[in-house]
Amino acid sequence: MSFNKYYSDETLQDAVDAGRHRQVVGGLWDEMGALQLNFLKDQGMAPRDVLLDIGCGTLRLGRLAVDYLDPGNYWGADRSALLLDTGHERELTDDGRDRLPRAQLIETDSFDFSAVTARVTYAMAQSVFSHLPLNHLRRCLIKLAEVMPPTGRFCVTYFECPDAWPVTEPIQHGRKKGEIVSYDYKDPFHYRPTDLLWAAGHGPWRLERVGDWGHPRGQHMAVFVRGRD
Ligand SMILES: C[S@@+](CC[C@H](N)C(=O)[O-])C[C@H]1O[C@@H](n2cnc3c(N)ncnc32)[C@H](O)[C@@H]1O
Repeated sequence: MSFNKYYSDETLQDAVDAGRHRQVVGGLWDEMGALQLNFLKDQGMAPRDVLLDIGCGTLRLGRLAVDYLDPGNYWGADRSALLLDTGHERELTDDGRDRLPRAQLIETDSFDFSAVTARVTYAMAQSVFSHLPLNHLRRCLIKLAEVMPPTGRFCVTYFECPDAWPVTEPIQHGRKKGEIVSYDYKDPFHYRPTDLLWAAGHGPWRLERVGDWGHPRGQHMAVFVRGRD
């Protein structure tokens, strides 16, 4: 049973073989990389911080964050080792590879961050939970709290279902009408703010909603702030 196209290793291999490793994580390479890094800086991320990029793919954010952060302070996690390898080989310079050892890109589909040896002060999951059922976000929040100290900030994008909208009806998002249609039962998923609160309630998290952050396809931003245990 697969929840989304990223679960098909054949699809990913075909894309990588055809040189489409940027498109397979969503394209808009320069725009979406810069948007994420600027958002994190606006949230207070500085070079000394430690960033965990959850569902980092082929390093659309990573290649920029590696240059911005102090060496060794970027960590990535993804379910696909192929995407991690490809990003590391094709998107980083030699200097970038010195600043980001391959061992800091972790293959996991269960949000197992036990290999992360640093205390994570910022985390980002961009266009990850928009492709996954809500219990994945719950699990991720529980597992992330193990490697993130209090005051850490976790930035998560999602398609929002407004309170007044019937949750079982499809919703259109994006700059062009009908560009993306989200659903409550299949990928891409939409969530109500109260759904995010439910997930946050299983760990030491406070939810700050940001809403529109300039995402070209209409994903909103939620910031989860880690409280004390
Ligand atoms: C749309 S791409 C976004 C990639 C990246 N965040 C970016 O903005 O460029 C979604 C990524 O999430 C990864 N992913 C999907 N399910 C995952 C899971 N359960 N654990 C870790 N990564 C996952 C996919 O392999 C893919 O790289």
